[in-house]
Amino acid sequence: MGIKDSPFIRACYGKNSAGPIPIWIMRQAGRYLPEYQEVRQKVSFQELCQSPELIAEVVRQPVERFKLDAAILFSDILTILEPMGAEVSFPEGGPRIAHPIETADDVKRLSGIEPLQDLPFVLEGVKRIKEILPQTPLIGFVGSPFTLSCYLIEGKGSKTFDKVKIFMHRYPEAGEELLNLLADNVAEYLLAQIEAGAEAVQIFDSWGGILSHDDYERLSARPINRILAKLKGTNVPRIVFVNNVAPYFDLVAEYDCEVIGVDYRVNLETAALALPKKAVQGNLDPTILFDKPEVVAKETRRLLDRLHRHDNLIFNLGHGILPKTPIESVETMIKTVRAFRK
Ligand code: CP3
Repeated sequence: MGIKDSPFIRACYGKNSAGPIPIWIMRQAGRYLPEYQEVRQKVSFQELCQSPELIAEVVRQPVERFKLDAAILFSDILTILEPMGAEVSFPEGGPRIAHPIETADDVKRLSGIEPLQDLPFVLEGVKRIKEILPQTPLIGFVGSPFTLSCYLIEGKGSKTFDKVKIFMHRYPEAGEELLNLLADNVAEYLLAQIEAGAEAVQIFDSWGGILSHDDYERLSARPINRILAKLKGTNVPRIVFVNNVAPYFDLVAEYDCEVIGVDYRVNLETAALALPKKAVQGNLDPTILFDKPEVVAKETRRLLDRLHRHDNLIFNLGHGILPKTPIESVETMIKTVRAFRK
C-alpha cells in the first residue's frame, strides 16, 4: 500500500470511507515513553533535536510500539528561531528566549532563513525517518507565526501573553512586519521539509486561542493564510491545529487547508458541523488517559459515537500527551479506536 492510500492520508481528504480510523498522538515521541527517557539521559533536548540519527530513533519509538498511522518529525516549533537570530534554550520549566523583543526596532534584529543551510540536521532527520519508516506517512510541522511571536516577545511561556497583545496593539506595523517575516520563513521551512520527504504538514497555532476574534483574524489567521497559499501547489495535506478553536470557527472554516486539528474543549461533532469542508483531527482530553481503563475506553468510544461522519476523522488527543501518562491508557485508547470500525 502506498502512502497516498494510507488511512491517514485518505482521511485528510475525507475519503477514508472503509477500513480503520487513523490515529496518531500529538507529542507522541516524549517523556511518557521509557525508551525516550533513555535517549534523553544521554543527550540534552537540543542535542537530540540536532542529531538526524537520534531524531529518527525517537520518531520510530512510538510508531513501532503502538503501530500508529502517522509519524511526526521530532523537533520543536522554536528551532526555526535560532537561525532567524534569536537565542533559544530549553532549561527545566520550559523554553527561554534571551533578549526578547521589546520595541519596534527589535524586530529588525531578525532575519530570513535558508532551510538547507540553516537547519540541515532537521532535513537530514526527515530523510532518515523516511529510510526507516518508508510505509508510515510523515508529518512535518511548524509553529504558527503568532505562536512564535509569543515566545519572541514574552521570552518564555505564559498563560495570557499580555506583553504580546500589548506589543501588537502599540506597534501594529512592526507587529505585521514580524508576523510576515515569520510566515515567509515558516513557509520556506515547510517546503524544505516536504522536499526532504514529509507527506503532510501541521501548523501548531498553540496560542492564537488567547486572542479576541478581531485580533485572531489579523494576527493569527492572516499570516497562516499567507503560509497556506505558499503550500497550495505541493499536494500534501495541510493540517492547522488551533488550541481553543471554538471562537474562530468562521475564520478557520475559510483556511485553505484539508484538516483542522481541534482542541479538547470542543464537542468534536459541533466542530465537524461548523467545518463541513474539512477533515477533523482530535480531540480526546489528554487528562482522561490518567483515568481507569474502562473510562479511557468509554470516553474514546463516546467521542467516536457522537460523530455523523468517520471518513474524514483522524483520531488524536485534543492537545499534547502529558509527560506522566500511563502507557496502558494509550494502548486502551488505540485498541478502542481500532475496534470501532475494522
Ligand atoms: O509531537 C511530537 O512528538 C513532535 C515533537 C514536538 C515537540 N514540541 C517536542 C518537545 C512538537 C510538535 C512540539 C511543538 C511545540 N513546542 C509547541 C506546540 C504544541 C503545543 O503543545 O501546542 C510548543 C508551544 C512548543 C514549545 C515548547 N517546547 C515547550 C512549551 C516545551 C516545554 C514543555 C514541556 O513539555 O516540557 C518544549 C520542549 C519540548 N518540545 C519537549 C519535547 C519532547 C520536552 C523536552 C524534553 O525532552 O525534556
